[in-house]
Amino acid sequence: MNFEGQTALVTGAASKRGIGREIARQISQGGGTVIIADINQEMLENAVKDIDQEKGSAYSAVLDVTSEEKVKQSLDELIGKFSKIDILVNNAGITRPTGVLDISEEEWDLIFDVNMKGTFFVTQHLLPHMKENNYGRIVNLSSVSGKRGGGIFGGSHYSAAKAAVTGFSKAVAREMASFGITSNTVAPGLIATDITGGMLTDEKKKQLENDIPAKRAGTVEDVANAVAFLATKESSYITGEEIDINGGSHI
Ligand code: NAI
Repeated sequence: MNFEGQTALVTGAASKRGIGREIARQISQGGGTVIIADINQEMLENAVKDIDQEKGSAYSAVLDVTSEEKVKQSLDELIGKFSKIDILVNNAGITRPTGVLDISEEEWDLIFDVNMKGTFFVTQHLLPHMKENNYGRIVNLSSVSGKRGGGIFGGSHYSAAKAAVTGFSKAVAREMASFGITSNTVAPGLIATDITGGMLTDEKKKQLENDIPAKRAGTVEDVANAVAFLATKESSYITGEEIDINGGSHI
């Protein structure tokens, strides 16, 4: 896919085996410049090195998406430096596999702050810039958990936050469609990354894969392929949509 001359901001893209990292890699391989924004500075440095090694163009931005002040400051700096940001992928996310009876208010807020409020802050502060350019591609990461309950990976807070991301994305799509800005979500099912890796025994993974019509967990490439398409110029008439990436789990 061609991203020549375009700049993308991908949040939560530092984690080595993560979905965001692969999205950043694909955009940079398509000739785009990628700003990798993440809370984890050490992982960020490695992420930029890896993309450089593949002859891509990547910059790092240490960013906690839950802090409105830091988001605003960081976006002002980035817009000043890159002069235009065409693509935003709101990928930063966390989960906790806590049952509804045991979720504390603090944990509820944390899950909402990272997954939902962070998506809101980054989107809200980038939108005026995209409106000015009359161009923008926003892709948000929701989850199968937002549609059918958390299962073992996410509690009800995670499910609620991801369902909220979908609603938010549709509302932004409606408000921004006449400014050349699209807003879509992708809803991954079981994807092999650090977020899931630590939570599964081999036996449990096998059992879960057996319930998926495709009989396998998804890969970060499976998700990034769909995100990258929604980030292209060619996807201009698709907005307010959600793509399920789950090997047929909803059939
Ligand atoms: P990951 O744990 O590999 O990566 C998440 C990244 O977000 C990390 O680099 C982390 O440092 C960063 N991050 C965490 N808090 C942050 C904050 N406050 N500010 C900025 N960055 C922050 O996760 P993974 O699996 O790659 O997930 C990516 C997205 O996909 C998340 O939104 C997740 O909820 C969603 N997702 C993942 C699925 C899976 O099976 N792995 C399934 C469905 C959705």
